[in-house]
Amino acid sequence: MSTSPRQQEASPNQGDAGAGVTDTESPDTASRNTESRNTESPVSEDVAAVAARGAELRELLHRAAHEYYVFDRPALSDAQYDALYRELQSIERAHPELRTDDSPTRRVGAEPQSALAKYAHAVPMLSLGNAFDDAELRGWEDRIVRVVGDDVRRSGYTAELKIDGAAVSLTFDNGVLVMGATRGNGTIGEDVTANLRTVRDVPLRLAGSPPSARIEIRGEIYFPFDHFERMNASRVAAGEPVFANPRNAAAGSLRQLDPAVTASRPLRFFGYSVVSDERDVLPFRTQWEVLDALQRWGVPVAPDRCHCKTLDEVTEWAHSVEHTLRASLDFAIDGGVVKVDSLRLQEDLGVVGGREPRWAIARKFAPDVAETRLLAIEVNVGRTGQLNPFAVLEPVEIGGTVVRLATLHNEDLVRDKDLRAGDVVQVKRAGDVIPQVIGPVPERRTGAEQPWHMPTHCPACNTPVARDADLVAVYCPNVACPGRQLEALVYFASRGAMDIRGLSYARVQQLLREKIVHDVADLYSLSVDQFLALDGYQKKSAEALVAAIQQSRLQPLSRLVTALGIPHVGETAARLLARHFGTLEALIDATQEQVAEIRGLGAVIAQSVASYFRDPSVRVLIEKLRAANVTTEEPRQAAASGALAGQTIVITGTLPTLSRKQATELIEAHGGRITSSVSKATAFVLAGAEAGSKLDKANTLGISVIDETELFKRIGQ
Ligand code: IVH
Repeated sequence: MSTSPRQQEASPNQGDAGAGVTDTESPDTASRNTESRNTESPVSEDVAAVAARGAELRELLHRAAHEYYVFDRPALSDAQYDALYRELQSIERAHPELRTDDSPTRRVGAEPQSALAKYAHAVPMLSLGNAFDDAELRGWEDRIVRVVGDDVRRSGYTAELKIDGAAVSLTFDNGVLVMGATRGNGTIGEDVTANLRTVRDVPLRLAGSPPSARIEIRGEIYFPFDHFERMNASRVAAGEPVFANPRNAAAGSLRQLDPAVTASRPLRFFGYSVVSDERDVLPFRTQWEVLDALQRWGVPVAPDRCHCKTLDEVTEWAHSVEHTLRASLDFAIDGGVVKVDSLRLQEDLGVVGGREPRWAIARKFAPDVAETRLLAIEVNVGRTGQLNPFAVLEPVEIGGTVVRLATLHNEDLVRDKDLRAGDVVQVKRAGDVIPQVIGPVPERRTGAEQPWHMPTHCPACNTPVARDADLVAVYCPNVACPGRQLEALVYFASRGAMDIRGLSYARVQQLLREKIVHDVADLYSLSVDQFLALDGYQKKSAEALVAAIQQSRLQPLSRLVTALGIPHVGETAARLLARHFGTLEALIDATQEQVAEIRGLGAVIAQSVASYFRDPSVRVLIEKLRAANVTTEEPRQAAASGALAGQTIVITGTLPTLSRKQATELIEAHGGRITSSVSKATAFVLAGAEAGSKLDKANTLGISVIDETELFKRIGQ
């Protein structure tokens, strides 16, 4: 993994995986350091030279990020960027006092917080009135003309994309980022400085010649579409709730207590305004100049803005954005923002009710709706057996993407909307992403449409279906149902569960189709030769997959409990169950009451767990897993005697092979305890690439710092 801007964008939380703490120095710095140690020159001169090199590196790295993010024109190769970054890291490690607030290395490493502090905006963050069509936009111009006269028409407008993300305000003091806050209610927001520092295109220091006064740059944090879809897919696989739209994903990622979580999300930023509570520090005459200046300062500005002379030009621009441009954007917009260009006129126009400026308006787009034919309503079987209807549509383009399928959620929804196979239906993309059927167009009915009913038998195995107590959900009760098995196997292998790398959806389908695997326990008896007999495997891939499967036997009980996919039991509940009962034997014999006694678990989970393990077919499966030597214990119990027993350990940075979670589990399994901050009580710090302030603190306190290899040694692996 690389630390170049491009790589950081793809996976911002991962530093150079190959570089441990001790070997991140580039050859260049290493020799420089050795030289300086060997010369006779006074120490102060050395430090001055190192300080100068540090400043030079910061400058080079800032400039490279600026070129990369703002102008889309990389000035350095990934490798060059990496080398400079690591050189700076090693200088700062040797001389923590040289680490400035705006150092590019500040983007990672801040401590998690227990709550976000409130932040009072020096200048309120306003919201916008809406115009939903061309006529409403003209109405707005008429109103402002009545206030300040015809000058407005001559001043012209700046039209900008309305980014559908989370609004933030970035405070710069003498060009250095000192504070970042969410909008909140416009007056009081939250301090999310540490999180915003992790956003790669938020400049830590403004380029060019920004004002030396304290200024605030306002803009929108957003979550790019492609990353959004990928993240939701992996959240589904891990049994985690998905984000409804990129806006929620952006806002949620921004308001994390642990900056490392924010850093792991690919957030981006566009700036659109500059304010200051000091008088006369901003030299701008027009909004257009503001946007130009932002760009010069290294702040990304949304593309496709328009300097419009007349409102007709604005309208034309809005139409082309809505009907053409929008589809090609990699981020969500929910309209355009039209601003009176002259800042003097903006001031004259003022703010209505302290909330909405008169000088700007949001030109909202109509929701993306299309008509198409509902070819069929089909049913998918989920891993817990739930039958979910979905719409098979005649392919139709909505807002630039072709939609073929849409979710229908459950039987009630189909009945309430009176959807019939063969109907012409209206389909929309909600929040720009998930297609939904709005409803049928009854006038287009011919009489040949077929009303739909939930099947009485499972579409995958033909077992008569059963109904939930509340009658909303219909499910297939057959645990051996191939439809359920497919989803169950995919879930079993997913990252938050047994984490079997390489066992993809398509490969699971193939194993079931070839009848080599019937349930999750069958995975453990698969041989390399069996895979080699299947299409699509070479020796290397077959061996890797068998190894990954075998390795997963060592996962602790909590992972196994997650992987079983017990209804209502996610990763957290699984961990509580595993820690409480310690062994699978104890857990499967637990009564509903015993489960309900565990803090953090409620009656629904208790009921679900008890009835799951009472099922005879589950008992059979568990016997098979036990026979396959899958771990059925949670290592906590044994922990008191492990190699790390009684030691308090802090993890920081990106480790070469283990994820945070894996390292935590491993350490806990050997008796260690993880805490988030370094103190005198810390036994050692486990550090990886891009370790930040925790590492500095350990060095200051004289706490030992080890790398992953050393950890493996200590626990005898
Ligand atoms: S101007 C005048 N410009 O839209 C004060 N806002 O609905 C309003 N937004 O809270 C800000 N893109 O978060 C402005 N180019 C843009 C924008 C934009 C997105 C958001 C902003 C604001 C919300 C109002």
